[in-house]
Amino acid sequence: MAHNTAEARSSANGKIIVSIASAQLPRMRSVNSFGFRHSLAARQLITLDGVEELIRHYQSQKRYNLIYSLINSKEIAPQDALDAVAALKSSEYTNTWIRLTQVDDALPEIRDVTKSFIQDLSDLYGRNIEAEVFKPFVTLFVSSPNEITPYHFDHTWNFLLQLKGTKTVYLFDQNDPQVLCQTDLENWYGRHCPVPKRENCGDGMPYFLHPGDGVHHPVNAPHWVQNGPEISISLSIGLCLHESNRRAKIHQVNYILRKFGLNPSLPSASSRSDRLKVSLLDLLSDRQPDTFHSAVFSGRDRMMLPYRAARKVFRF
Ligand SMILES: [Fe+2]
Repeated sequence: MAHNTAEARSSANGKIIVSIASAQLPRMRSVNSFGFRHSLAARQLITLDGVEELIRHYQSQKRYNLIYSLINSKEIAPQDALDAVAALKSSEYTNTWIRLTQVDDALPEIRDVTKSFIQDLSDLYGRNIEAEVFKPFVTLFVSSPNEITPYHFDHTWNFLLQLKGTKTVYLFDQNDPQVLCQTDLENWYGRHCPVPKRENCGDGMPYFLHPGDGVHHPVNAPHWVQNGPEISISLSIGLCLHESNRRAKIHQVNYILRKFGLNPSLPSASSRSDRLKVSLLDLLSDRQPDTFHSAVFSGRDRMMLPYRAARKVFRF
């Protein structure tokens, strides 16, 4: 997608989303994946040196849970994550991958970008998106050439912005029962286990990303990613929505009910049943969650304690 005058004008106005191709607009309005152009690639927002600095910052605060990295496809301790940057800076970067989470909490510039981005979404959708967001989770991905991110889905309403290098994101329709079924959702929210890729669900819709391109992933839309031939740096703005958190709680209660042989009502089938399930998990969830796990899984963790204890005792 080429830059155009409208894009340059939007960028000068401080917008992050600078344009959406007309063919993508119907997809945006119908809660599908869609591509867009963003203004961050020209700003040199994050370089490998910046990634190094951020890792040092997290390490100095002992926030090791925000660092995840692989060298030669092997997970390395967060204390050693600078080795992954060194590998990327040298030629020894085969299958190297770094994920740094909550970068909006650590970097004021990214926090400002996230705020502007949410405002752009409000303008695009014509409603107050900030009121719908429980918390943004902004993640930085750095990876070596040709790296593959396996098939998975995310709980957040995601927008992936390519900053450096190229990648192709293959997105699948989360509403297609051939792609995703009810028990896949319950298993993911109940056990946090990988979602299976079905043989007959096709190849997904490819989005070819160069610096300045972005792609939207709807909530729970499965996808996998293939890097191009250079080191890639991408920023993922994941918006954890109140409504998604509510549905997660329904899936989590349904997961345990199904374990006991029951056939629970699906989300939205009974508002009374939905309310009961959400209230139960609200009681068990952290009051002031500050991490993704705490926001989405703390209630589930407490709900599962008696079930796991009973399994140990009765060996079922
Ligand atoms: Fe993802």
